[in-house]
Amino acid sequence: MNKIALITGSSSGIGKETAIGLAKQNFDLILHGRDIEKLDNLSDFIKKNYPSTKIFASAADFGTFEGIRNFADFIKQKFSKIDVLINNAGTVSPVFQLTEDGFERTFAVNHLSYFYLTGLLIDQLLNSSEGRIINISSQLHFQGKIHFDDLNLTNNFDSIRAYNQSKLANVLFTYHLSRKLSKTKITVNAVHPGAVNTGLDRDLKGTYKFLWSLSKPFQLKPAQGAETSIFMACSHKVKGVTGKYYVKKEEKPSSDFSYNQEAAARLWELSEQMCGVNY
Ligand SMILES: NC(=O)c1ccc[n+]([C@@H]2O[C@H](COP(=O)([O-])OP(=O)(O)OC[C@H]3O[C@@H](n4cnc5c(N)ncnc54)[C@H](OP(=O)(O)O)[C@@H]3O)[C@@H](O)[C@H]2O)c1
Repeated sequence: MNKIALITGSSSGIGKETAIGLAKQNFDLILHGRDIEKLDNLSDFIKKNYPSTKIFASAADFGTFEGIRNFADFIKQKFSKIDVLINNAGTVSPVFQLTEDGFERTFAVNHLSYFYLTGLLIDQLLNSSEGRIINISSQLHFQGKIHFDDLNLTNNFDSIRAYNQSKLANVLFTYHLSRKLSKTKITVNAVHPGAVNTGLDRDLKGTYKFLWSLSKPFQLKPAQGAETSIFMACSHKVKGVTGKYYVKKEEKPSSDFSYNQEAAARLWELSEQMCGVNY
């Protein structure tokens, strides 16, 4: 029986290429994005090229807890086991915006969705003989700071400040979860995919849009950006490896702050309170 991988944000960019790459490696797939039409097109492409791949696709907005909860409920009804969860969905909010749950949008989509969805699907991952959780972070986490007194950046919003905070949260979450799951068969690792030419900057404006556009010619193609995610999902070289940060398929040190266990525990506790889930 094929292994099953769930890739969030697989409707475009790195996630889409990760899904195609895993189909090539004989995984069955759970696809996710916001737009069902994009997911249907991807399903058709994969079915045509990798006919033995079983595909299940579901659309959900991860900017709301309700969206995440409904998505997870749907998945749990269909799958008792998930072998690989790739938390990949991501955004850069161009303006300060609170979700309906009251959290800054970039933090909500990039960190709280990883935290919440993983908690809701933890039993499915425990049912795998070798569950792997892969959190897509970014090298920009090195510039990140967790603004514990104002996680929403209400007083100090800036698109990239919010993005960097969320990507640092991804690494702190990875390390804390790997410690919590150390006595289980689940591994948890973080990935920087490289600077990749995707639509991530689509909503940015002004200077950030301009600076991002300057780097476009030097950025990787989405398929190249997916290589480390695919490696972490299926390579025997990382069997049993947990609590690490990977770049270009190699373990690398993450920022000094990302190893701060006290900060990781504090973020965990706050995330539990925000999402209303304990695991
Ligand atoms: N591109 C880079 O240079 C780079 C570098 C480092 C890290 N990353 C990380 O890589 C991951 C993938 O990004 P990408 O570059 O491939 O960007 P992308 O092409 O914009 O893909 C982002 C994916 O996330 C989904 N998504 C966005 N907001 C969502 C929401 N509110 N609810 C549910 N799904 C949502 C998108 O769905 P739609 O198709 O509906 O938009 C899309 O499938 C992100 O976590 C990003 O932080 C990217």
